[in-house]
Amino acid sequence: MIDLPILTEIKPETKGKKVLSQTTKVYIETYGCQMNTNDSEIVGGVLQSEGFQSTQKPEEADVILLNTCAIRENAEKKIYDRLNHLKYYKKRNSHLVVGLLGCMAERLRAQLLGEKNLVDIVVGPDEYRKVPQLIESALQGNRGIAIKLSKVETYDDIVPLRTEGISAWISIMRGCDKFCTYCVVPFTRGRERSRPMSSIVEEAKNLYDSGFKEITLLGQNVDSYLDTEHNHNFADLLRATAIAVPLMRIRYTTSHPQDMSDQVIETMAEFDNICKYIHLPFQAGSNRVLELMNRTYSIERYLNRIAKIRELMPNCALTTDIISGFPTETEEDHLETMRIVEQVRFDGAFMFKYSPRENTKAWKMGDDVSDEVKTRRLNEIITLQYEIARQINETTVGTIEHVLIEGPSKRNTEVWVGRTDSNKITFFNHEDIRGYVIGDIVPVRILRTTSTTLNAELV
Ligand code: 5AD
Ligand code: SF4
Repeated sequence: MIDLPILTEIKPETKGKKVLSQTTKVYIETYGCQMNTNDSEIVGGVLQSEGFQSTQKPEEADVILLNTCAIRENAEKKIYDRLNHLKYYKKRNSHLVVGLLGCMAERLRAQLLGEKNLVDIVVGPDEYRKVPQLIESALQGNRGIAIKLSKVETYDDIVPLRTEGISAWISIMRGCDKFCTYCVVPFTRGRERSRPMSSIVEEAKNLYDSGFKEITLLGQNVDSYLDTEHNHNFADLLRATAIAVPLMRIRYTTSHPQDMSDQVIETMAEFDNICKYIHLPFQAGSNRVLELMNRTYSIERYLNRIAKIRELMPNCALTTDIISGFPTETEEDHLETMRIVEQVRFDGAFMFKYSPRENTKAWKMGDDVSDEVKTRRLNEIITLQYEIARQINETTVGTIEHVLIEGPSKRNTEVWVGRTDSNKITFFNHEDIRGYVIGDIVPVRILRTTSTTLNAELV
């Protein structure tokens, strides 16, 4: 929680350059999670209200902002590669301002602004209101930094600048208080705080009125959402949103096995417009490892949540996160993770090799599982999970699903893509479309499947 003063290093060639925000074009490139995607939209909203223009083309931008992710080492490496690449842009345009936003800001400010001289501004996740001022100052040749974390900032009054047409993210809270021992998020994003329920519901209604068909409520741990003024919890928020926008699909992420209440599961089951899809990370199958991770639940509690979900919503799709090779993980621990994958039969999973992050508790535990073993274990989990997902998807062949049409697929515009209620990517032939348009929810019959996608025909 340090706020360094804005550095004032004047570049002689730009000193005194007149800044007109109306003609300054900003390009934002987003890395990492959906929360970052929504944060970039918030930055876009802040900049737009100050009269800046946004551009989708980095080559025509006056300002390039990278919204960064620090969750694993390879995420950070990507950013460094990109920053090195942006040096060429800077050579071509000496006035170009390069800024770094988000989770890497706090950790790497000294390095990035200092001797490496890679960026002009560094802005942490709670300081996005200062982006316009920092850009203006950078265009005058002053490098700047704002990385203070806040206990209250939720950007509740900022209208995010959304570009995509039918599906919108809504951040309902920021930060995280769980302190899983491997995770940097509580340090990079700070303490947990929730937006008032009424303003989230209002945002959902506005999105519906402007043509959006689907919203995803976002938080690092949505189950601990709390509107402190009115004592509304996440189940209350789900209910209020489902009632306020009955024709919209409602999704949310991420759930936490300890904090996910029966009330949340019951509310989901009650409303047809809340999609039957839950992302519930279990991370590791062994109670010993879960404890070292400070996950605050046992695997029995995890399985109890799965049982409750399946009792009330037998067809609810489930995905998870798994970390392989956490410090001290033994072969037996790994086999316990494999057994959970087998037992639960997830529709999908995000599977990662453990990546030690400086200053976390796990960092101090050492990184004693060799890369070779981590890779082998991870591959075993991936192979098992893919086969299970393939089998699950295969059982849908011949059934009718309802797909929200997103538009042409990126690879082949003849083929269109949408998502089922259970969040599965579904391809269908555009020739069949019969007057349906992007944003319609249409019934389809599943024809063929893979472990990650469905192929269907409209019925
Ligand atoms: N190493 C590997 N995976 C991690 N995750 C978070 N921190 C780490 C880390 N240090 C994973 C967790 C989390 C997901 C978003 O990223 O599985 O749920
Ligand atoms: Fe990180 Fe754990 Fe918080 Fe998720 S719940 S963001 S893994 S600390």
